[in-house]
Amino acid sequence: MTQPYTLVLRDCAQVLTLAGAPTDRPLTGPALADWRIIEQGFVACQGDTIAAVGPMSELDESWLGPETRVIDARGRVVMPGLVECHTHLVFGGNRADEFQRKLQGESYLDILASGGGILSTVRKTRAATDDELLAGALHHLEGFRRYGVTTLEAKTGYGLDAATELRLLRVAHAAGRQQPVQLVHTFLGAHVPGPEYKGRPAEYLAMLSEQVLPALQGQAEFVDIFCEEGAFSVDDSRRYLQRARDLGFKLKIHAEQLHDLGGCRMAAELGAASVDHCDYLPAADAAAVAAAGQGRTVAVLLPLVPLYLRQDKYAPGRQFIDAGLPVALSTDFNPGSCPSKNLWLAVSLACLKMGLTPHEALAAVTLNAAWALDRQQQVGSLEPGKRADLLVLGLPDYREIPYWLGENPVQQVIIGGQ
Ligand code: NIG
Ligand code: FE
Repeated sequence: MTQPYTLVLRDCAQVLTLAGAPTDRPLTGPALADWRIIEQGFVACQGDTIAAVGPMSELDESWLGPETRVIDARGRVVMPGLVECHTHLVFGGNRADEFQRKLQGESYLDILASGGGILSTVRKTRAATDDELLAGALHHLEGFRRYGVTTLEAKTGYGLDAATELRLLRVAHAAGRQQPVQLVHTFLGAHVPGPEYKGRPAEYLAMLSEQVLPALQGQAEFVDIFCEEGAFSVDDSRRYLQRARDLGFKLKIHAEQLHDLGGCRMAAELGAASVDHCDYLPAADAAAVAAAGQGRTVAVLLPLVPLYLRQDKYAPGRQFIDAGLPVALSTDFNPGSCPSKNLWLAVSLACLKMGLTPHEALAAVTLNAAWALDRQQQVGSLEPGKRADLLVLGLPDYREIPYWLGENPVQQVIIGGQ
């Protein structure tokens, strides 16, 4: 024996391994529910890494030493930490006032066109100090961690000028260093044209392409754009994403949120890691998007957003999966269309409104979400060699997870074996 286990979770009622399905691409079709659940299982870790997973009958007690921390998970589900693959983490203020306007019938795009929406958060963000922005980000990360999120994507997008966008990235990095949730950084300077470029989206994108993208210097891994009426056209988005790809960034897109413009297919053709929202992506187009993305582009579905925008249309997740398009789930946490960090509620809504099964929805917030962030080698499943990011849930059966609507089932969060 070399090193004893540092941590063992034993007698788990169920271990949701997320392992056992093909590993060369995100899960879709029947594979999305073809991963292994171990009844009466264990998970053993050495330091920050998973060392062994299996049924209790295979736990070799000779690997336990006096230093081994043992967690008795009797009657409880153990699963990988949640991967939250789409958030707008850093922003100033809130938009409670616009919630009232929305209740009185104003639409998301009407509020944006009147200078509110994203642009009102931009004003508050520009006016905020670094310390205020950092305090907000840390507060939200603490909330996400309590919900069991162990990896989280953080977008910029409320600065909309070169200096503030770079400032938001710096704040996001500082937040990542000051707490244990692992962050993945995305540049969303192309959220809408900055107020100084009103009505000149192409000029705004040219400014970002020439002045900002080359200056990101390893600060952002992904580049994202909001392709929508009132934001950026498909042609402008294509040009911008091509430029970002040429500079070595991985790609994401907000597309088909409110209209079917064809942004998902365009981004998949460019090899985007994910196409996000997709509420207006017709089910009949899913196979073409899957083919364009060579089975590797993930459709990130955000069911809390139509709920919060009082919209009847939800992405047809069931048909996407049946057509071979991989799906992940996320909150889209942001101050306008989803001020919620409750990814478990998104799981329930995906079952209720998008036709996913509980088994599928859990893969969509773990392994497929890891694919959407290109972290599938590190996190998203319980397999030897992966990071020891684990959750202990206060329920005995995974089918209860979406059933207890709006509850947080998390009892214990382990990040990197700690
Ligand atoms: O993903 N749709 C574009 N952007 C965000 C909302 C941003 C906001 O309203 O502040 C989203 O829904
Ligand atoms: Fe978003």
